[in-house]
Amino acid sequence: PGDGLVLGLESSCDETAAAVLRADGTVLAEAVLSQLADHAPFGGVVPEIAARAHLAHLPALVARVLAEAGTTPAGLSAVAATSGPGLIGGLIVGASFGKGIAAARDIPFIAVNHLEAHALSPRLPSVSPEGLPFPYLLLLLSGGHCQCVAVEGVGQHRRLGSTLDDAVGEAFDKSAKLLGLPWPGGPHLERLAVGGDPARFPLPRPLLGRPGCDFSFSGLKTAVAQQVAKGLDEAGRRHLAASFQEAVAATLADRARHALAMLPAATALVVAGGVAANGAVRAALAEVARKAGLPLVAPPIRLCTDNAVMVAWAGIERLRLGLSDPLDHAPRPRWPL
Ligand code: KG4
Ligand code: ZN
Repeated sequence: PGDGLVLGLESSCDETAAAVLRADGTVLAEAVLSQLADHAPFGGVVPEIAARAHLAHLPALVARVLAEAGTTPAGLSAVAATSGPGLIGGLIVGASFGKGIAAARDIPFIAVNHLEAHALSPRLPSVSPEGLPFPYLLLLLSGGHCQCVAVEGVGQHRRLGSTLDDAVGEAFDKSAKLLGLPWPGGPHLERLAVGGDPARFPLPRPLLGRPGCDFSFSGLKTAVAQQVAKGLDEAGRRHLAASFQEAVAATLADRARHALAMLPAATALVVAGGVAANGAVRAALAEVARKAGLPLVAPPIRLCTDNAVMVAWAGIERLRLGLSDPLDHAPRPRWPL
C-alpha cells in the first residue's frame, strides 16, 4: 500500500495547491497556483471563477507534484483534501478529486478542516524541528479568518475569540482600497507605510483593554475613511498607512496578551495567515511572546498563507491517530473548529 506518501490538496478559496509529504512530514514536492490575476478585476474573489479555475488546474498540478516527488498515484498511502470551511464550489472540486484517487487506489481519504490545517502547520518538522507540544495559542490572521484558538490536540481546539465584524486581512484590504491601493491591499499598505509617522493620526484601537480576545476592525476602517475624506497629500497617505498599521498591531498585541492569560499552559504563541507576513504585526506579537517568556512561532510565509503542505500534514497528524473519513463525507462551506 504505497511507500508512506501523503498527497494534500487545497482549493477552499483562490489558491489551487497540491503537495506530497512523507509520513514523517518531509516535504517532497509542493505547488501553489494563485488565481489573484483572475479575481483582481473584480476587487475580490468570485466563487464561480474560483471553482472553475480549480477544476481547470488541479489535474496538471497534482501530476506535477507527483512527478517531482518521483512517484505516481500507486505510490500514495493516503490523500488529504481540504473539505471546509470555504467556497463550496472549490471545496467540491478538491475533495472529489482527492476521493477519486483514494477510491481508485483503495487508500484512506482524510477530509481536512482548513482551520485545523493552519492550526497544526507550526508542528511541521521543518517549522518546529524540536517538536511543538500542545497546548499552544494560535492567532489565525487572514483575509477570511480572524480568530484566537487554544490548540490542545489534534481535533481538540477551543476558540477563545474571533472577529465581531471584519477579518484583519479584510480591514487591511478595505483601508488599502480607501488609500487608492490595488487589491489585495495588505502588502501594498505595508510598503506605503514605510517612512510614515505611526503617531500622526490618532486612530481607534478597537476593544483595547476589554476582557476576552474578540477582535473588531470596522471602526478602524471607518476612521481611515474619515481621514481620507478630509483630503491627504502623499506624505499624509504614508502617515495614515503607518497609523493604521500601528493601530492594528497594538490591537492584536492586546488581544494576544488576553488570550495568553486565558491559556496559562500555552507552550508558544503561534501566528498564521497572510497578515502574519506584516512586519509591524510580527514585531508587536514577538514582544508579547517575549514578555510572556514564550517563543513566537511564525511559519515561513508560504506556509502561513493557503497551501497544501499544511493540508497533507493535518492529514498525517490525523492518520497517526487512526482517523480517516468515508468517501461520502460532504464538504462543508461552514465548519467551525
Ligand atoms: O491567508 P491568506 O493568504 O488568504 C486568506 O485570506 O485565506 O491572507 C490574505 C490576506 C489579505 O487580506 C492580504 O491583504 C493580507 O493577508 N496580507 C497582508 C500582508 N500580506 C498579505 N496584510 C498586511 N501586511 C502584509 N504584508
Ligand atoms: Zn487559509
